[in-house]
Amino acid sequence: MAEFPAKRLRRLRYNPTLRRMLAGVRLSPLDLIAPLFVRSGSGVRKAIASMPGQFQHSPDSALETVRRWSDAALPAVLLFGIPDSKDASGSSAWDGAGPVQTLVGLLKAKLPDVLVITDACLCEYTDHGHCGVVVGCGEGGADIDNDATLEALAKVALSHARAGADVVAPSAMMDGQVAAIRKALDAEGFLKTAILSYAVKFASSFYGPFRDAAQSRPQFGDRQSHQLDFASSRGVVSEALSDIDEGADMVMVKPALPYLDVIAELRRRTDLPIAAYQVSGEYASIQAAARAGWLEERAAAMEAAVAIKRAGADLIVTYFAEQLAGWLAEGH
Ligand code: PBG
Repeated sequence: MAEFPAKRLRRLRYNPTLRRMLAGVRLSPLDLIAPLFVRSGSGVRKAIASMPGQFQHSPDSALETVRRWSDAALPAVLLFGIPDSKDASGSSAWDGAGPVQTLVGLLKAKLPDVLVITDACLCEYTDHGHCGVVVGCGEGGADIDNDATLEALAKVALSHARAGADVVAPSAMMDGQVAAIRKALDAEGFLKTAILSYAVKFASSFYGPFRDAAQSRPQFGDRQSHQLDFASSRGVVSEALSDIDEGADMVMVKPALPYLDVIAELRRRTDLPIAAYQVSGEYASIQAAARAGWLEERAAAMEAAVAIKRAGADLIVTYFAEQLAGWLAEGH
């Protein structure tokens, strides 16, 4: 038994001012990226049942929403498109007049200070709901032709860059997607367009609500042939390191809260900015429990965001972005 036990660790926890001073992690609106779903039309603001507080917007309504977010000090948005028509190759994804491309143009014209990031994938645009060109479906999930998909992803990224996107974020988990997109962007002179790679993306059940929101649920099979197995511990960080070799400017880990160990490990292995995506299922779980009165939404959302930052993320993509900005402005 030590002679002077107790209280040595707790002594710093009594005074709330000292607690605040010693908080190593300070969340700021500048850490946050708000996802947004855009579809065609005008005056559309359609609630997403599985994600309370989230909407599918037409470009005009999206612009007003982003204006409000920007007024609340949020710096950045991540756009997802819901096209009018889908086909086997997902060709509406690189339609220069698609909802994402239209909104990007609108945002850069009206709110030039907002950083516009676009999700570059095909799953919202293919009739089968997969992230690329499907060539079969077996036990390993849907089999996607890697190299054919790279060509399509490059077209998508280029169409976003032409519309004015600041950052493109490829999320299909195809090998070589960052290099293919970098090459296509450079060839057209988009040297300033950055790539935020969804480098470490697990095959996760936490994407469930998003697939309703973006109408991108696979019609058969799953995404296990390209997304990471959640039980894998090897090869995870090298996914990110190879994207960095290919030219990624920032890397993302997704989902966030179940994979804080991966964020922390990646933090040790790279100096590049790391983003973490608190995905739809993480959001919906907190929302549902809060609605049932089982936990307090504000406290839980704040705790999750701080934990994600503490693990080593520089940026957090979160559906709580607007609420967090509001709470932070109140001084919490
Ligand atoms: C793919 C993509 C997905 C998400 C972001 N980009 C879905 C998927 O891989 O099925 C999920 C985001 C979320 O759940 O909030 N375009």
